[in-house]
Amino acid sequence: MSVLHIVGHPMIQHKLTLMRDKNTGSKDFRELLKEISLLMGYEITHDLPLDDIQIETPICPMVAKKVPGRKLAIVPILRAGLGMVEGLQTLVPVAKVGHIGLYRDEETHQPVEYYCKLPEDIQERLVIVTDPMLATGGSACDALTMLKAKGCTNIRLMCLVGVPEGIKKVQEEHPDVDIYVAAVDDHLNENAYIVPGLGDAGDRIFGTK
Ligand code: PRP
Ligand code: URA
Repeated sequence: MSVLHIVGHPMIQHKLTLMRDKNTGSKDFRELLKEISLLMGYEITHDLPLDDIQIETPICPMVAKKVPGRKLAIVPILRAGLGMVEGLQTLVPVAKVGHIGLYRDEETHQPVEYYCKLPEDIQERLVIVTDPMLATGGSACDALTMLKAKGCTNIRLMCLVGVPEGIKKVQEEHPDVDIYVAAVDDHLNENAYIVPGLGDAGDRIFGTK
């Protein structure tokens, strides 16, 4: 069964409040999203496997811990998911990055696919899918289905804000995928926007409105 992890660290909650504020501009919004992604990344990678390797410190030889190569891939759902990549890359610089392009049709709220480019060996990696907003869950579910079609078996979903509807849909359609969020908000409005939410994440990141 898919586990919902609410990452409630006080600094994440503080930064999320700043992001929600409508008076926060694009530059600060992007910076805060990057910082939160790094902090959430710490939690989402807490159980990465470690190899033992032999090294020499200036004092003596020792067997030390190392994250093996070919372990992680970050896959943002375009556009807004891009805002979470840099923070994760700061934490795991060797992670490869794939991209899935989906946008929600404004009338039907259904996701429409327009791009998919993934690392060749993605099926060997733990894949972290990033998207700040988990609203109806349609975009996340489609992205997870696309990754599974490529052979991925070890996937986690990292969002900033979710609502019960979207979380339920992902958990029902992808029970093998754990979900990480910083907050679970109240509901969706008639336009399928999260309430209270933070508005349109893509527009706020890229300044398109
Ligand atoms: C937003 C958001 C998610 C999706 C969430 O993207 O970044 O991808 O909506 O909604 P859902 O859970 O109902 O599918 P949007 O379609 O606005 O595209 P953008 O990131 O390019 O702005
Ligand atoms: N996409 C967003 O960017 N915000 C929402 O509240 C819902 C979907």
